[in-house]
Amino acid sequence: MPTILITGANRGIGQALATSYQAAGWKVYAARRYGGAVVPEGTHPVRLDVGDEHSIKALKDQLGDEPIDVLWNNAGVFLDKGKDLAKLPDEDWLESFRVNCVAPIRLAEMLIDNVAASDRRVMAFTSTKMASLARYGQGSIAYRSSKTALNMAVRCLSHDVAPRGISCIMLHPGWVKTDMGGEAADIDVETSVSGMRKTVDQAGPGQQADYNGRFFDYDGSAIDW
Ligand SMILES: NC(=O)c1ccc[n+]([C@@H]2O[C@H](COP(=O)([O-])OP(=O)(O)OC[C@H]3O[C@@H](n4cnc5c(N)ncnc54)[C@H](OP(=O)(O)O)[C@@H]3O)[C@@H](O)[C@H]2O)c1
Repeated sequence: MPTILITGANRGIGQALATSYQAAGWKVYAARRYGGAVVPEGTHPVRLDVGDEHSIKALKDQLGDEPIDVLWNNAGVFLDKGKDLAKLPDEDWLESFRVNCVAPIRLAEMLIDNVAASDRRVMAFTSTKMASLARYGQGSIAYRSSKTALNMAVRCLSHDVAPRGISCIMLHPGWVKTDMGGEAADIDVETSVSGMRKTVDQAGPGQQADYNGRFFDYDGSAIDW
């Protein structure tokens, strides 16, 4: 039975990922930052505030050397959604970088041996098309810049982990109906998750050239940087 660890698994896309993998028979570590937050039935709840290095270390201590086939860095924040940049405190911009960029890389570093010890050896990172320099838009500068930084960090990480057979994959989930995406979004969480899974579930040590360090839309098409 493969094992996956998903961050931000208590709501939105992360919760739907946890539900989907649990239903498919995987062992699912559903990470949520607050102990009271509910995660899908049948998953293994674990505590993780991705922005807190002590919390990351405590999770590593809990997991020990257990192999993790897929580490899915899903948790994220969009603190400047609909906000005027002039009114955005620097703290919010820095927090966007901490949660959206620094945290996924720190967690990946901490769990690299667990992923390397697994059969599939995949690290997935939920990014966004809004981070694409080729498709740049306007507004949401804190969010966009934090995710663009994530993309670069993951590209660098993908080179570092390649010798260990690990594939780092960046994904755009679509514009999804969640607390973050809002009711007007294009697709529901199930459509997003089933689409992204088609990409992530095909990756593995034998397919590194096709997946490692690449950026995919939820429909499997490649996204320009
Ligand atoms: N929805 C979209 O249209 C869309 C589009 C492109 C990309 N994305 C990306 O997809 C991912 C999931 O988005 P979503 O729409 O599901 O968002 P969401 O509904 O707002 O859920 C965000 C999740 O991240 C968790 N989280 C935030 N900060 C955290 C922290 N410090 N430690 C641990 N968990 C933390 C939240 O936990 P709490 O409940 O504790 O706050 C929650 O579980 C994000 O990375 C987002 O940037 C979403």
